[in-house]
Amino acid sequence: MSGRGIKRRVLVTGGAGFIGCNLVRLILTERPDWEVVNLDLLTYAGNLTSLADVEDHPRYRFIRGDVAEPVDVAKAMEGCWGVLHLAAESHVDRSILDPGPFLRTNIIGTRVMLDAARQCGVERFVQVSTDEVYGSLQPEDPAFTEMNRLLPNSPYSASKAGADLLVRAYYKTFELPVVITRCSNNFGPYQFPEKLLPLLIRNALADKEIPVYGDGLQVRDWIFVEDHCRALVEVLEKGRTGETYNIGGNCEMRNLDIIRKVLEELGKPESLITFVKDRPGHDRRYAMDNGRIELELGWTPAHTFAEALPKTVQWYLDNLEWVQSVVTGGYLEYYQRQYAGRHSG
Ligand code: NAD
Ligand code: DAU
Repeated sequence: MSGRGIKRRVLVTGGAGFIGCNLVRLILTERPDWEVVNLDLLTYAGNLTSLADVEDHPRYRFIRGDVAEPVDVAKAMEGCWGVLHLAAESHVDRSILDPGPFLRTNIIGTRVMLDAARQCGVERFVQVSTDEVYGSLQPEDPAFTEMNRLLPNSPYSASKAGADLLVRAYYKTFELPVVITRCSNNFGPYQFPEKLLPLLIRNALADKEIPVYGDGLQVRDWIFVEDHCRALVEVLEKGRTGETYNIGGNCEMRNLDIIRKVLEELGKPESLITFVKDRPGHDRRYAMDNGRIELELGWTPAHTFAEALPKTVQWYLDNLEWVQSVVTGGYLEYYQRQYAGRHSG
């Protein structure tokens, strides 16, 4: 690291996770004068195999560490111009089983990150948050704008909302140069198979039932992960300090419709669909208004769902080894705890 011609060093936290690994790769490819430090604890959700192709890259450095540990964070943030803070516990169902790790990593971890950013004098701090902090929409409601109140409904979204409020407070109180992003449901390569899309692909390939919560008519706004990553780089470079930017895919879909599309792609029967007991506090609908980021930064999603979904399904078919490598005993235990005895009928 720190070769000639390097203009910026950027710290990505959670770089071994789904969005993080796609982001690290995008920065290394599209910003040839940036160095990337990846700080990741390698929890069940973090996998270095997702970054095997860049592990020896001269502008990349991995540090195994915890965002809630000041010593780890200070080491990783040294000399960094900017921070993209993604590290988090990210799965709603796990937050219902046990909120503890969510409060520690998502809230305490963000506090540690913010204190270190003040200490190191970083020039940009991007807090990567989620549309879930706004709560749930009725079918007739307009999409979320950045003006919506924070009304989180799960321990996960409450922990992200808490972190967002801390970030805002550090801007107001300490003038830390922060920006918050809130994105909708990502899909694409390297997503851990606890989340709907990869779980459904994995189960369908094994002719196992697809567990659908409640009536399956919940609506999510789907965005291809590369579009999210591109937006994050734009916000890091050009976002207005102290501002929040929504990032969505302009693609509202009901869970059942997306499940049917994937089954069709895979040539698997709809009879695999199995309705199970609903997620407690399940948000009915999310939708994002991209007006601000489009107007101010000129960003708009480049991929359509129709084009990116088959590409994603194909990626999983081509990378069954990766899927196998991340599905450890811990995952199988979680799957049993989450789904056993959940059948509604
Ligand atoms: P992920 O669960 O796939 O990855 C999280 C990463 O954080 C893992 O690599 C894990 O090892 C690491 N991590 C967890 N605890 C840590 C700790 N204490 N210290 C250091 N590293 C730790 O998550 P993701 O889906 O890639 O999401 C990344 C971020 O984007 C999260 O902040 C999430 O809230 C946000 N987000 C996700 C989505 C989505 O659809 N996946 C949408 C909007 C926002
Ligand atoms: O909206 C952004 C959020 O999207 C991110 O902040 C979260 O980190 C990310 O996990 C995701 O949250 P969701 O809860 O929307 O994603 P998940 O893949 O868990 O579920 C998508 C929808 O599918 C949701 O309505 C629940 C439903 N579902 C999910 C699973 C895992 C099922 O019906 N069955 C399942 O087995």
